[in-house]
Amino acid sequence: MRVAVVGQGYVGLTGAVALALQGHSVTGVEQDPGRLRTLDAGEAPVFEPGLPQQLTAALATGRLRFTDGLAESHRWAPFDTVLITVGTPPRSDGSADLSQVTAALEQAGNLLPPPRVVLKSTVPPGTSSSLAGTCPWLRERYAYNPEFLNQGSALEDWAAPARVVVGTWSHDSERALRELYAGVTGPWVVTTPTSAEMIKYASNAFLAMKISFSNEIARMCCGPDTDVDQVMQGVGYDPRIGHAFLQPGLGYGDSCLPKDTAALAHWASSAGIPAPLLRATIAVNDAQAGLALQILRTELGAALRDATIAVLGVRYEPWSDDLRAAPSRTVVPAILGEAARVRIWDPATDAVAVAKLFPAADAVPDLSDALGGAHAVVLLTEWPQAIEADWPRMAARLAGPRLLIDGKNCLPPSGWPACPSATGVSAPGCPPRPRPRNPSWRHEPVARTAPSFR
Ligand SMILES: NC(=O)c1ccc[n+]([C@@H]2O[C@H](COP(=O)([O-])OP(=O)(O)OC[C@H]3O[C@@H](n4cnc5c(N)ncnc54)[C@H](O)[C@@H]3O)[C@@H](O)[C@H]2O)c1
Repeated sequence: MRVAVVGQGYVGLTGAVALALQGHSVTGVEQDPGRLRTLDAGEAPVFEPGLPQQLTAALATGRLRFTDGLAESHRWAPFDTVLITVGTPPRSDGSADLSQVTAALEQAGNLLPPPRVVLKSTVPPGTSSSLAGTCPWLRERYAYNPEFLNQGSALEDWAAPARVVVGTWSHDSERALRELYAGVTGPWVVTTPTSAEMIKYASNAFLAMKISFSNEIARMCCGPDTDVDQVMQGVGYDPRIGHAFLQPGLGYGDSCLPKDTAALAHWASSAGIPAPLLRATIAVNDAQAGLALQILRTELGAALRDATIAVLGVRYEPWSDDLRAAPSRTVVPAILGEAARVRIWDPATDAVAVAKLFPAADAVPDLSDALGGAHAVVLLTEWPQAIEADWPRMAARLAGPRLLIDGKNCLPPSGWPACPSATGVSAPGCPPRPRPRNPSWRHEPVARTAPSFR
Protein backbone atom coordinates (compact mmCIF):
# COMPACT_ATOMS: atom_id res chain seq x y z
CA MET A 1 0.00 0.00 0.00
CA ARG A 2 1.04 3.63 -0.44
CA VAL A 3 1.01 5.21 2.98
CA ALA A 4 1.71 8.68 4.35
CA VAL A 5 2.56 9.07 8.04
CA VAL A 6 1.95 12.66 9.13
CA GLY A 7 4.17 13.62 12.11
CA GLN A 8 7.61 12.05 12.50
CA GLY A 9 8.01 11.96 16.27
CA TYR A 10 8.39 8.86 18.46
CA VAL A 11 5.20 7.24 17.16
CA GLY A 12 5.23 8.39 13.55
CA LEU A 13 8.85 7.59 12.76
CA THR A 14 8.56 4.16 14.39
CA GLY A 15 5.45 3.46 12.32
CA ALA A 16 6.95 4.78 9.08
CA VAL A 17 10.07 2.62 9.48
CA ALA A 18 8.12 -0.49 10.50
CA LEU A 19 5.58 -0.18 7.67
CA ALA A 20 8.35 0.33 5.08
CA LEU A 21 10.17 -2.76 6.37
CA GLN A 22 6.89 -4.68 6.10
CA GLY A 23 6.80 -3.89 2.37
CA HIS A 24 4.62 -0.77 2.15
CA SER A 25 5.67 2.33 0.27
CA VAL A 26 5.86 5.00 2.98
CA THR A 27 6.20 8.78 2.98
CA GLY A 28 6.95 10.33 6.37
CA VAL A 29 5.57 13.87 6.50
CA GLU A 30 7.16 16.26 8.98
CA GLN A 31 6.59 20.00 9.29
CA ASP A 32 9.49 20.76 11.67
CA PRO A 33 12.41 21.83 9.42
CA GLY A 34 15.04 20.67 11.95
CA ARG A 35 13.50 17.19 12.29
CA LEU A 36 13.10 16.95 8.51
CA ARG A 37 16.76 17.88 7.89
CA THR A 38 17.85 15.15 10.31
CA LEU A 39 15.57 12.61 8.60
CA ASP A 40 16.84 13.65 5.16
CA ALA A 41 20.36 12.95 6.43
CA GLY A 42 19.21 9.40 7.25
CA GLU A 43 19.25 10.00 10.99
CA ALA A 44 16.54 9.63 13.65
CA PRO A 45 15.61 12.96 15.31
CA VAL A 46 14.38 11.13 18.43
CA PHE A 47 16.26 8.59 20.52
CA GLU A 48 14.83 5.08 20.46
CA PRO A 49 16.93 1.92 20.85
CA GLY A 50 17.36 0.14 17.51
CA LEU A 51 15.66 2.91 15.51
CA PRO A 52 18.81 4.26 13.76
CA GLN A 53 19.65 0.79 12.43
CA GLN A 54 16.08 0.06 11.36
CA LEU A 55 15.81 3.50 9.76
CA THR A 56 18.94 2.76 7.70
CA ALA A 57 17.52 -0.63 6.71
CA ALA A 58 14.16 0.90 5.73
CA LEU A 59 15.83 3.64 3.65
CA ALA A 60 17.94 0.99 1.91
CA THR A 61 14.76 -0.72 0.66
CA GLY A 62 13.89 2.46 -1.28
CA ARG A 63 10.37 2.29 0.18
CA LEU A 64 10.77 5.13 2.70
CA ARG A 65 11.14 8.84 2.02
CA PHE A 66 10.50 12.05 3.96
CA THR A 67 8.88 15.32 2.96
CA ASP A 68 7.07 18.34 4.36
CA GLY A 69 4.52 18.32 1.53
CA LEU A 70 1.64 15.88 1.97
CA ALA A 71 -0.44 17.39 -0.84
CA GLU A 72 2.43 17.53 -3.37
CA SER A 73 3.38 13.90 -2.70
CA HIS A 74 -0.26 12.82 -3.01
CA ARG A 75 -0.64 14.63 -6.34
CA TRP A 76 2.45 12.89 -7.65
CA ALA A 77 1.31 9.40 -6.58
CA PRO A 78 -1.89 9.19 -4.45
CA PHE A 79 -1.77 7.56 -1.03
CA ASP A 80 -4.18 4.74 -0.13
CA THR A 81 -3.97 5.63 3.55
CA VAL A 82 -2.83 8.62 5.59
CA LEU A 83 -1.85 7.87 9.21
CA ILE A 84 -1.90 10.87 11.53
CA THR A 85 0.59 10.67 14.39
CA VAL A 86 0.92 14.30 15.42
CA GLY A 87 1.26 15.53 19.00
CA THR A 88 -1.60 16.19 21.43
CA PRO A 89 0.25 18.16 24.13
CA PRO A 90 -1.40 19.30 27.36
CA ARG A 91 -2.84 22.79 27.70
CA SER A 92 -2.29 24.64 30.98
CA ASP A 93 -5.72 23.48 32.25
CA GLY A 94 -4.81 19.83 31.56
CA SER A 95 -6.99 19.45 28.48
CA ALA A 96 -5.53 17.99 25.29
CA ASP A 97 -4.48 20.54 22.68
CA LEU A 98 -5.96 19.11 19.47
CA SER A 99 -4.77 21.86 17.12
CA GLN A 100 -2.14 19.62 15.44
CA VAL A 101 -4.78 16.92 14.92
CA THR A 102 -7.38 19.22 13.39
CA ALA A 103 -4.77 20.84 11.10
CA ALA A 104 -3.50 17.44 9.90
CA LEU A 105 -7.05 16.14 9.39
CA GLU A 106 -7.89 19.19 7.34
CA GLN A 107 -4.82 18.63 5.15
CA ALA A 108 -5.74 14.96 4.67
CA GLY A 109 -9.40 15.81 4.06
CA ASN A 110 -8.50 18.13 1.17
CA LEU A 111 -6.58 15.46 -0.78
CA LEU A 112 -7.98 14.29 -4.11
CA PRO A 113 -8.55 11.49 -4.79
CA PRO A 114 -9.52 11.02 -1.12
CA PRO A 115 -7.34 8.54 0.82
CA ARG A 116 -8.42 6.60 3.91
CA VAL A 117 -7.46 8.49 7.10
CA VAL A 118 -6.33 6.78 10.30
CA LEU A 119 -5.83 8.89 13.41
CA LYS A 120 -3.36 7.39 15.89
CA SER A 121 -2.75 10.38 18.17
CA THR A 122 -4.23 10.13 21.68
CA VAL A 123 -7.45 12.18 21.81
CA PRO A 124 -10.30 12.52 24.35
CA PRO A 125 -13.40 10.35 24.02
CA GLY A 126 -15.85 11.81 21.53
CA THR A 127 -13.20 13.66 19.47
CA SER A 128 -13.72 11.61 16.29
CA SER A 129 -17.50 11.90 16.60
CA SER A 130 -17.39 15.62 17.07
CA LEU A 131 -14.93 16.04 14.15
CA ALA A 132 -17.28 13.96 11.99
CA GLY A 133 -19.97 16.54 12.73
CA THR A 134 -17.99 19.12 10.75
CA CYS A 135 -16.22 16.70 8.34
CA PRO A 136 -18.89 14.21 7.18
CA TRP A 137 -16.34 12.34 5.00
CA LEU A 138 -14.87 10.90 8.24
CA ARG A 139 -17.84 8.50 8.50
CA GLU A 140 -16.92 6.86 5.16
CA ARG A 141 -13.16 6.48 5.22
CA TYR A 142 -11.81 6.96 8.72
CA ALA A 143 -10.60 4.91 11.65
CA TYR A 144 -9.33 5.83 15.08
CA ASN A 145 -6.46 3.50 15.91
CA PRO A 146 -4.72 4.49 19.17
CA GLU A 147 -1.06 3.69 19.60
CA PHE A 148 0.14 1.83 22.72
CA LEU A 149 3.88 1.56 22.09
CA ASN A 150 6.36 2.23 24.89
CA GLN A 151 9.44 4.33 24.32
CA GLY A 152 12.43 2.02 24.70
CA SER A 153 10.69 -0.90 22.99
CA ALA A 154 8.77 1.04 20.32
CA LEU A 155 9.72 -1.12 17.33
CA GLU A 156 8.93 -4.39 19.11
CA ASP A 157 5.67 -2.95 20.41
CA TRP A 158 4.68 -1.82 16.93
CA ALA A 159 5.38 -5.25 15.42
CA ALA A 160 3.74 -7.24 18.22
CA PRO A 161 1.33 -5.00 20.15
CA ALA A 162 -0.62 -6.37 23.11
CA ARG A 163 -3.71 -5.47 21.04
CA VAL A 164 -4.76 -3.56 17.95
CA VAL A 165 -7.71 -1.28 18.73
CA VAL A 166 -9.72 0.06 15.81
CA GLY A 167 -12.65 2.43 16.16
CA THR A 168 -14.51 2.97 12.93
CA TRP A 169 -17.92 3.51 11.38
CA SER A 170 -16.98 1.70 8.17
CA HIS A 171 -16.20 -1.96 7.42
CA ASP A 172 -14.02 -0.86 4.51
CA SER A 173 -11.76 1.05 6.90
CA GLU A 174 -11.41 -2.00 9.11
CA ARG A 175 -10.57 -4.15 6.07
CA ALA A 176 -8.00 -1.62 4.87
CA LEU A 177 -6.33 -1.54 8.28
CA ARG A 178 -6.18 -5.33 8.42
CA GLU A 179 -4.36 -5.22 5.07
CA LEU A 180 -2.01 -2.45 6.25
CA TYR A 181 -1.19 -4.31 9.48
CA ALA A 182 -0.95 -7.76 7.87
CA GLY A 183 2.55 -8.17 9.35
CA VAL A 184 1.45 -7.14 12.86
CA THR A 185 0.54 -9.78 15.43
CA GLY A 186 -1.85 -9.29 18.38
CA PRO A 187 -5.58 -9.55 19.09
CA TRP A 188 -7.96 -7.00 17.51
CA VAL A 189 -10.67 -5.01 19.23
CA VAL A 190 -12.94 -3.40 16.64
CA THR A 191 -15.33 -0.89 18.11
CA THR A 192 -16.67 2.65 17.77
CA PRO A 193 -14.20 5.55 17.59
CA THR A 194 -15.37 6.85 20.98
CA SER A 195 -14.82 3.48 22.67
CA ALA A 196 -11.38 3.24 21.03
CA GLU A 197 -10.52 6.71 22.34
CA MET A 198 -11.66 5.68 25.81
CA ILE A 199 -9.65 2.41 25.66
CA LYS A 200 -6.45 4.42 25.20
CA TYR A 201 -7.17 6.84 28.07
CA ALA A 202 -8.50 4.13 30.38
CA SER A 203 -5.38 2.00 29.79
CA ASN A 204 -3.05 4.85 30.71
CA ALA A 205 -5.20 5.86 33.68
CA PHE A 206 -5.01 2.29 34.97
CA LEU A 207 -1.22 2.12 34.61
CA ALA A 208 -0.89 5.48 36.38
CA MET A 209 -3.18 4.23 39.13
CA LYS A 210 -0.95 1.18 39.68
CA ILE A 211 2.08 3.45 40.14
CA SER A 212 0.23 5.79 42.51
CA PHE A 213 -1.12 2.79 44.39
CA SER A 214 2.37 1.38 44.90
CA ASN A 215 3.57 4.80 46.07
CA GLU A 216 0.73 4.97 48.56
CA ILE A 217 1.50 1.48 49.86
CA ALA A 218 5.18 2.44 50.01
CA ARG A 219 4.33 5.24 52.46
CA MET A 220 2.61 2.63 54.64
CA CYS A 221 5.66 0.33 54.55
CA CYS A 222 7.76 2.65 56.69
CA GLY A 223 8.54 0.32 59.61
CA PRO A 224 12.00 -1.24 59.96
CA ASP A 225 10.59 -4.69 59.28
CA THR A 226 8.56 -3.85 56.17
CA ASP A 227 10.17 -3.88 52.73
CA VAL A 228 7.97 -2.33 50.05
CA ASP A 229 9.92 -4.10 47.28
CA GLN A 230 9.13 -7.46 48.77
CA VAL A 231 5.55 -6.39 49.43
CA MET A 232 5.09 -5.46 45.75
CA GLN A 233 6.87 -8.60 44.63
CA GLY A 234 4.42 -10.64 46.68
CA VAL A 235 1.43 -8.63 45.46
CA GLY A 236 2.45 -8.83 41.80
CA TYR A 237 2.76 -12.61 41.70
CA ASP A 238 -1.03 -12.70 41.76
CA PRO A 239 -1.82 -13.11 38.03
CA ARG A 240 -4.90 -10.91 38.48
CA ILE A 241 -2.55 -8.05 39.45
CA GLY A 242 0.83 -8.62 37.79
CA HIS A 243 4.18 -7.00 38.58
CA ALA A 244 4.13 -4.29 35.90
CA PHE A 245 3.97 -0.69 37.13
CA LEU A 246 4.16 -1.63 40.83
CA GLN A 247 7.52 0.01 41.45
CA PRO A 248 7.46 2.88 43.96
CA GLY A 249 9.53 5.99 43.33
CA LEU A 250 9.11 9.72 42.78
CA GLY A 251 6.08 9.22 40.53
CA TYR A 252 5.28 8.69 36.86
CA GLY A 253 6.70 11.23 34.43
CA ASP A 254 6.88 9.88 30.90
CA SER A 255 5.44 11.68 27.88
CA CYS A 256 2.02 9.97 28.14
CA LEU A 257 0.78 9.17 31.67
CA PRO A 258 0.85 12.72 33.13
CA LYS A 259 -0.75 14.32 30.08
CA ASP A 260 -3.30 11.58 29.45
CA THR A 261 -4.49 11.35 33.06
CA ALA A 262 -4.80 15.14 33.17
CA ALA A 263 -6.71 15.18 29.87
CA LEU A 264 -9.08 12.42 31.02
CA ALA A 265 -9.71 14.24 34.32
CA HIS A 266 -10.43 17.43 32.39
CA TRP A 267 -12.75 15.56 30.02
CA ALA A 268 -14.59 13.94 32.98
CA SER A 269 -15.04 17.36 34.64
CA SER A 270 -16.47 18.80 31.46
CA ALA A 271 -18.88 15.86 31.31
CA GLY A 272 -19.85 16.38 34.99
CA ILE A 273 -18.34 13.04 36.05
CA PRO A 274 -16.50 13.25 39.41
CA ALA A 275 -13.84 10.51 38.70
CA PRO A 276 -12.46 10.41 42.29
CA LEU A 277 -10.12 7.48 41.62
CA LEU A 278 -8.47 9.27 38.71
CA ARG A 279 -8.14 12.48 40.72
CA ALA A 280 -6.55 10.59 43.62
CA THR A 281 -4.11 8.94 41.21
CA ILE A 282 -3.01 12.36 39.97
CA ALA A 283 -2.89 13.87 43.48
CA VAL A 284 -0.69 11.04 44.80
CA ASN A 285 1.63 11.49 41.83
CA ASP A 286 1.83 15.26 42.22
CA ALA A 287 2.82 14.85 45.87
CA GLN A 288 5.40 12.21 45.07
CA ALA A 289 7.87 14.48 43.23
CA GLY A 290 7.79 16.89 46.21
CA LEU A 291 9.01 14.10 48.46
CA ALA A 292 12.64 14.59 47.40
CA LEU A 293 12.77 18.16 48.68
CA GLN A 294 10.75 17.24 51.76
CA ILE A 295 13.32 14.57 52.70
CA LEU A 296 16.24 16.92 52.02
CA ARG A 297 14.64 19.49 54.32
CA THR A 298 14.02 16.94 57.08
CA GLU A 299 17.43 15.31 56.90
CA LEU A 300 19.62 18.36 56.27
CA GLY A 301 17.62 21.00 58.15
CA ALA A 302 19.14 24.47 58.02
CA ALA A 303 22.30 23.00 56.47
CA LEU A 304 20.36 22.55 53.21
CA ARG A 305 20.93 26.18 52.23
CA ASP A 306 24.71 25.63 52.19
CA ALA A 307 24.54 22.10 50.81
CA THR A 308 25.63 20.65 47.48
CA ILE A 309 23.14 18.18 46.06
CA ALA A 310 24.09 15.71 43.33
CA VAL A 311 21.23 14.78 40.99
CA LEU A 312 21.80 11.56 39.04
CA GLY A 313 19.85 11.57 35.78
CA VAL A 314 17.42 14.03 34.27
CA ARG A 315 15.42 11.53 32.19
CA TYR A 316 12.42 9.61 33.44
CA GLU A 317 13.75 6.48 31.75
CA PRO A 318 17.27 5.80 30.47
CA TRP A 319 15.99 4.36 27.20
CA SER A 320 14.19 7.54 26.14
CA ASP A 321 15.43 11.10 25.54
CA ASP A 322 11.88 12.38 26.00
CA LEU A 323 11.99 14.92 28.85
CA ARG A 324 8.51 16.35 28.39
CA ALA A 325 7.16 15.47 31.85
CA ALA A 326 10.22 13.98 33.56
CA PRO A 327 10.12 14.42 37.38
CA SER A 328 13.52 16.17 37.13
CA ARG A 329 11.69 19.18 35.72
CA THR A 330 9.88 19.59 39.05
CA VAL A 331 12.47 18.14 41.42
CA VAL A 332 15.58 20.04 40.24
CA PRO A 333 14.07 23.58 40.29
CA ALA A 334 12.61 22.84 43.74
CA ILE A 335 16.04 21.84 45.09
CA LEU A 336 17.72 24.77 43.33
CA GLY A 337 15.33 27.05 45.20
CA GLU A 338 16.67 25.90 48.60
CA ALA A 339 20.15 24.38 48.24
CA ALA A 340 23.40 26.23 47.60
CA ARG A 341 24.48 24.11 44.62
CA VAL A 342 23.04 21.39 42.42
CA ARG A 343 25.30 19.20 40.30
CA ILE A 344 23.68 17.15 37.57
CA TRP A 345 25.13 13.98 36.10
CA ASP A 346 23.37 12.37 33.15
CA PRO A 347 25.50 10.31 30.77
CA ALA A 348 23.24 10.98 27.77
CA THR A 349 22.38 14.64 28.22
CA ASP A 350 25.13 17.12 27.35
CA ALA A 351 26.03 20.19 29.37
CA VAL A 352 24.33 22.55 26.89
CA ALA A 353 21.01 20.69 27.18
CA VAL A 354 21.29 20.58 31.00
CA ALA A 355 22.07 24.32 31.10
CA LYS A 356 19.02 25.00 28.92
CA LEU A 357 16.77 23.01 31.25
CA PHE A 358 18.32 24.07 34.56
CA PRO A 359 20.46 27.22 34.07
CA ALA A 360 21.43 27.46 37.75
CA ALA A 361 22.72 23.87 38.01
CA ASP A 362 26.19 22.54 37.05
CA ALA A 363 26.41 19.68 34.57
CA VAL A 364 29.14 17.26 35.63
CA PRO A 365 30.18 14.60 33.10
CA ASP A 366 31.69 12.15 35.60
CA LEU A 367 29.58 10.31 38.19
CA SER A 368 32.33 10.21 40.77
CA ASP A 369 33.02 13.96 40.35
CA ALA A 370 29.31 14.71 40.71
CA LEU A 371 29.33 13.02 44.10
CA GLY A 372 32.63 14.43 45.40
CA GLY A 373 31.90 16.58 48.46
CA ALA A 374 28.13 16.54 47.88
CA HIS A 375 25.97 16.30 50.98
CA ALA A 376 23.14 14.36 49.41
CA VAL A 377 22.38 12.43 46.24
CA VAL A 378 19.01 12.35 44.48
CA LEU A 379 18.75 9.59 41.87
CA LEU A 380 16.12 10.26 39.19
CA THR A 381 17.04 7.86 36.36
CA GLU A 382 17.81 4.14 36.45
CA TRP A 383 21.12 4.57 34.65
CA PRO A 384 22.97 1.23 34.57
CA GLN A 385 26.21 3.11 35.34
CA ALA A 386 24.65 4.38 38.59
CA ILE A 387 23.09 1.05 39.54
CA GLU A 388 26.32 -0.86 38.96
CA ALA A 389 28.61 1.77 40.53
CA ASP A 390 30.89 0.85 43.41
CA TRP A 391 28.64 2.45 46.02
CA PRO A 392 30.84 1.92 49.09
CA ARG A 393 33.54 3.89 47.23
CA MET A 394 30.99 6.45 45.97
CA ALA A 395 29.56 6.96 49.46
CA ALA A 396 33.05 7.70 50.75
CA ARG A 397 33.29 10.63 48.30
CA LEU A 398 30.32 12.37 49.89
CA ALA A 399 30.34 14.88 52.72
CA GLY A 400 28.05 14.34 55.70
CA PRO A 401 25.28 13.44 56.16
CA ARG A 402 25.72 11.23 53.01
CA LEU A 403 22.04 11.07 52.25
CA LEU A 404 20.81 9.08 49.26
CA ILE A 405 17.32 9.55 47.87
CA ASP A 406 16.76 6.73 45.41
CA GLY A 407 13.86 8.18 43.41
CA LYS A 408 13.60 5.08 41.22
CA ASN A 409 13.98 2.54 43.99
CA CYS A 410 16.64 0.80 41.94
CA LEU A 411 19.94 0.86 43.82
CA PRO A 412 21.23 -2.16 45.69
CA PRO A 413 21.49 -1.13 49.34
CA SER A 414 24.74 -3.01 50.00
CA GLY A 415 27.54 -0.74 51.05
CA TRP A 416 25.47 2.36 51.58
CA PRO A 417 25.62 3.54 55.17
CA ALA A 418 21.86 3.73 55.35
CA CYS A 419 18.74 1.83 54.38
CA PRO A 420 15.93 2.27 51.90
CA SER A 421 12.74 3.57 53.41
CA ALA A 422 9.22 3.15 52.14
CA THR A 423 9.47 5.57 49.28
CA GLY A 424 12.68 4.37 47.75
CA VAL A 425 14.68 6.63 49.98
CA SER A 426 17.86 5.82 51.79
CA ALA A 427 18.27 7.74 54.99
CA PRO A 428 20.83 7.48 57.75
CA GLY A 429 20.14 5.63 60.94
CA CYS A 430 18.47 2.50 59.55
CA PRO A 431 20.11 -0.90 59.32
CA PRO A 432 20.85 -2.14 55.78
CA ARG A 433 18.57 -4.88 54.49
CA PRO A 434 18.56 -7.09 51.39
CA ARG A 435 16.47 -6.12 48.40
CA PRO A 436 15.23 -8.60 45.76
CA ARG A 437 16.87 -7.98 42.40
CA ASN A 438 14.68 -10.03 40.12
CA PRO A 439 14.21 -7.82 37.02
CA SER A 440 11.08 -9.66 35.96
CA TRP A 441 8.91 -7.89 38.46
CA ARG A 442 10.17 -4.41 37.79
CA HIS A 443 7.87 -2.25 35.70
CA GLU A 444 10.66 -1.61 33.20
CA PRO A 445 13.56 -4.05 33.20
CA VAL A 446 16.80 -2.09 33.29
CA ALA A 447 18.79 -4.92 31.74
CA ARG A 448 16.94 -4.75 28.47
CA THR A 449 18.61 -1.61 27.10
CA ALA A 450 21.63 -1.34 29.33
CA PRO A 451 24.27 -2.26 26.70
CA SER A 452 23.36 0.62 24.39
CA PHE A 453 24.29 3.16 27.05
CA ARG A 454 27.73 1.87 27.86
N1 LIG B 1 5.54 9.01 22.55
C1 LIG B 1 4.94 7.91 22.95
O1 LIG B 1 5.52 7.05 23.60
C2 LIG B 1 3.50 7.66 22.61
C3 LIG B 1 2.93 6.39 22.82
C4 LIG B 1 1.60 6.18 22.47
C5 LIG B 1 0.83 7.23 21.95
N2 LIG B 1 1.40 8.45 21.79
C6 LIG B 1 0.58 9.52 21.22
O2 LIG B 1 0.93 9.66 19.85
C7 LIG B 1 0.91 11.03 19.45
C8 LIG B 1 2.28 11.44 18.91
O3 LIG B 1 3.20 11.33 19.97
P1 LIG B 1 4.76 11.59 19.73
O4 LIG B 1 5.42 11.38 21.05
O5 LIG B 1 5.25 10.83 18.56
O6 LIG B 1 4.72 13.15 19.37
P2 LIG B 1 5.91 14.11 18.93
O7 LIG B 1 5.57 15.43 19.45
O8 LIG B 1 7.23 13.49 19.25
O9 LIG B 1 5.79 14.12 17.33
C9 LIG B 1 4.76 14.75 16.65
C10 LIG B 1 5.35 15.29 15.34
O10 LIG B 1 4.32 15.72 14.49
C11 LIG B 1 4.80 16.83 13.75
N3 LIG B 1 3.63 17.51 13.17
C12 LIG B 1 2.61 18.13 13.81
N4 LIG B 1 1.68 18.55 12.92
C13 LIG B 1 2.12 18.19 11.68
C14 LIG B 1 1.62 18.35 10.36
N5 LIG B 1 0.46 18.94 10.12
N6 LIG B 1 2.36 17.88 9.33
C15 LIG B 1 3.53 17.26 9.55
N7 LIG B 1 4.08 17.07 10.80
C16 LIG B 1 3.37 17.54 11.83
C17 LIG B 1 5.54 17.63 14.79
O11 LIG B 1 6.44 18.56 14.20
C18 LIG B 1 6.27 16.51 15.55
O12 LIG B 1 7.53 16.23 14.98
C19 LIG B 1 0.45 11.81 20.69
O13 LIG B 1 -0.93 11.97 20.65
C20 LIG B 1 0.84 10.88 21.84
O14 LIG B 1 0.02 11.08 22.97
C21 LIG B 1 2.70 8.69 22.09
